[in-house]
Amino acid sequence: MSFNNLDTLYRQVIMDHYKNPRNKGSLDDSSLTIDMNNPTCGDRIHLTLKVEDGVVQDAKFDGEGCSISMASASMMTQVVKGKDIDTALKLSSIFSDMMQGKELSEDVDLGDIEALQGVAKFPARIKCATLPWKAMEKGVNEENIGE
Ligand code: FES
Repeated sequence: MSFNNLDTLYRQVIMDHYKNPRNKGSLDDSSLTIDMNNPTCGDRIHLTLKVEDGVVQDAKFDGEGCSISMASASMMTQVVKGKDIDTALKLSSIFSDMMQGKELSEDVDLGDIEALQGVAKFPARIKCATLPWKAMEKGVNEENIGE
């Protein structure tokens, strides 16, 4: 696939998550609630996670933000559901590397999240993409400390 076609495909994946967000809303039975702002624009995310036995059983998000931040939140909640905390944090670290333009190792399959790799070329938007991941990290780290 040419780079142009890949860019178009990635744009479509991002817009699909923005317009049809997965896991939108708030969990009634969440064990963790995290509110976080992007300080550069004031956009915000409200993330609820249900963590039991060291596993993210469920995740939902709400908030106001640009297409990148909301699509990233949709993708993040999708991928961390069912993962143990260590795996969720590892994915966050891989995502952070991706935002710094580092090559992903070939055995890493991030699914739809790979559509965000082009964001690394736009430093002003990196905080948009990482906002939901930072919120998730904050939540599970608090959970770890609480144990
Ligand atoms: Fe605010 Fe992207 S412009 S999160």
